[in-house]
Amino acid sequence: MNTKTLLVTGSSGLIGSEVCMHFARELGYTIHGVDNNQRAVFFGPQGDTRWNQQRLATELPGFVHHELDIRDRAGVLALVKTVRPSVIVHTAAQPSHDRAAAIPFDDFDTNAVGTLNLLEAARQACPESPFVHMSTNKVYGDAPNRIALRE
Ligand SMILES: NC(=O)c1ccc[n+]([C@@H]2O[C@H](COP(=O)([O-])OP(=O)(O)OC[C@H]3O[C@@H](n4cnc5c(N)ncnc54)[C@H](O)[C@@H]3O)[C@@H](O)[C@H]2O)c1
Repeated sequence: MNTKTLLVTGSSGLIGSEVCMHFARELGYTIHGVDNNQRAVFFGPQGDTRWNQQRLATELPGFVHHELDIRDRAGVLALVKTVRPSVIVHTAAQPSHDRAAAIPFDDFDTNAVGTLNLLEAARQACPESPFVHMSTNKVYGDAPNRIALRE
């Protein structure tokens, strides 16, 4: 295993790019980002994330971009076996519930099967490495409203 090596999926996205920044700048990790600009497919030209990929390449010395679709099972397995990261943060996703209703197969293949591809690759290549999955705030349902908050 490569110590202090982080694999971030969805690295060009909102959360993934900030994870890259934090782990590189604050914690001294070497970053391997995985993104295929699928956001531009899901949301059209305004969803294009290439600018953010470019920002990471410019601002983070040693940043490595992998142009890979997480639905590509063999490709994901090969990459994780090669990098053997010490941490995986999985943020690649189709993040919109409205889009999910319009493109259910693309949504499921990305969010469910893509996640399974990464989990199985991690189990085979680096089972001791923490695996962080962003999931969604919708998993909480109405529960947060029942927490007794104090201002
Ligand atoms: N933004 C929020 O406030 C928020 C809150 C809670 C949870 N989340 C969850 O965090 C995750 C990321 O959210 P975000 O706001 O950063 O989304 P985002 O759309 O900004 O980023 C997702 C990235 O994943 C990439 N991607 C999508 N499909 C891919 C594929 N098949 N292969 C490779 N890359 C692919 C996209 O190109 C994009 O760059 C989602 O699961 C979302 O539900 C987000």
